[in-house]
Amino acid sequence: MRQRIYFNEVVTRDGFQMESVFIPTDTKVELINELSQCGYAKIEVTSFTSAKAIPMLRDAEEVMGRIQRVQGVEYTVLIPNIRGAERAMDVKPDEFNLVMSTSETHNLSNLRMPRKKSFISLREVIEKFGNQVPINVSLSACFGCPMEGEVPQQEVLQWAEKFSDLGVRGLTICDTTGMAQPEQVARMCEALQKRFSKLQITLHFHNTRGMGLANVLASVQSGVARFDASLGGLGGCPYAPGASGNISSEDAIHMLDAMGYQTGVDLSRLLPIARQIPTIVSHEVPGQVAKSGRITDLHPAPAYVTDLLKEIS
Ligand code: COA
Ligand code: ZN
Repeated sequence: MRQRIYFNEVVTRDGFQMESVFIPTDTKVELINELSQCGYAKIEVTSFTSAKAIPMLRDAEEVMGRIQRVQGVEYTVLIPNIRGAERAMDVKPDEFNLVMSTSETHNLSNLRMPRKKSFISLREVIEKFGNQVPINVSLSACFGCPMEGEVPQQEVLQWAEKFSDLGVRGLTICDTTGMAQPEQVARMCEALQKRFSKLQITLHFHNTRGMGLANVLASVQSGVARFDASLGGLGGCPYAPGASGNISSEDAIHMLDAMGYQTGVDLSRLLPIARQIPTIVSHEVPGQVAKSGRITDLHPAPAYVTDLLKEIS
């Protein structure tokens, strides 16, 4: 049997954060409750960011307080600073997902501070709360920045090292605006696993240039087993120019299923939920399998083919 792959569903965080029309709290809670029944390893519920920066997620406390948690699923939240961490502690998430960018320009755009200041602020969070809640760090723009261009692998590894030294449990390497290509991804995955063999390494891809699933495959073939993905392929950072959707969860899970990997996610439960997403956000979404069906969902042959089959049998 092939290796187990772990999915973190990010639709209600990355997926929703750039939507223009507020999605009601009830809808978010219902969606997370349904997703909790699908077999995900983790769900990124929301973010504890400034309501001015991300108005869509201003109901973070209420959503976290109202969801029905299912044993075996980890409920994580995105945290940009100490204020966010203090707010989040009250609702007891299973993990803090701290965020900063490896690109100075993207960090200034997204978090309004230089990377050094972000690091100091996140170190404070780790020192204050790291013994109470497991810490993951998401590093943005690791495969390129839409404003600066190339982000050298060495730069990513240096930031990763700083957090590894602080004793975090995991690192998520994010391709924030879909600039990664599979060979670059394979090189990154190999370097990360060699250097941080004890950490949970997660890859976070956006399908902005159609390379998302190719990048998942390159990562899996390099031994990486954890991915962020968003239902319907929704998503994007509002402070990264040209950002668009994450890889679609159902498409990625469907591909890996077809290849014989165990994802733990039950597609027969997930696809009906994925089909509700266009109604929730009031527009079409990029995910493919929810529209086309699984490779095992066959169509009846036309009547003339049935007749021809009878003739030749
Ligand atoms: N939660 C809620 N409010 C927060 C907050 C948090 N985590 N951090 C700061 N604030 C509030 C402050 O209290 C202040 O409020 P006021 O204007 O009513 O006094 C306001 O936000 C500005 O605070 P400041 O510290 O000056 O922050 P900033 O304007 O420099 O913004 C961040 C910094 C990090 C808070 C903001 O840029 C942010 O939330 N970014 C998140 C971006 C994001 O999630 N992007 C997508 C994911 S990659
Ligand atoms: Zn993202």
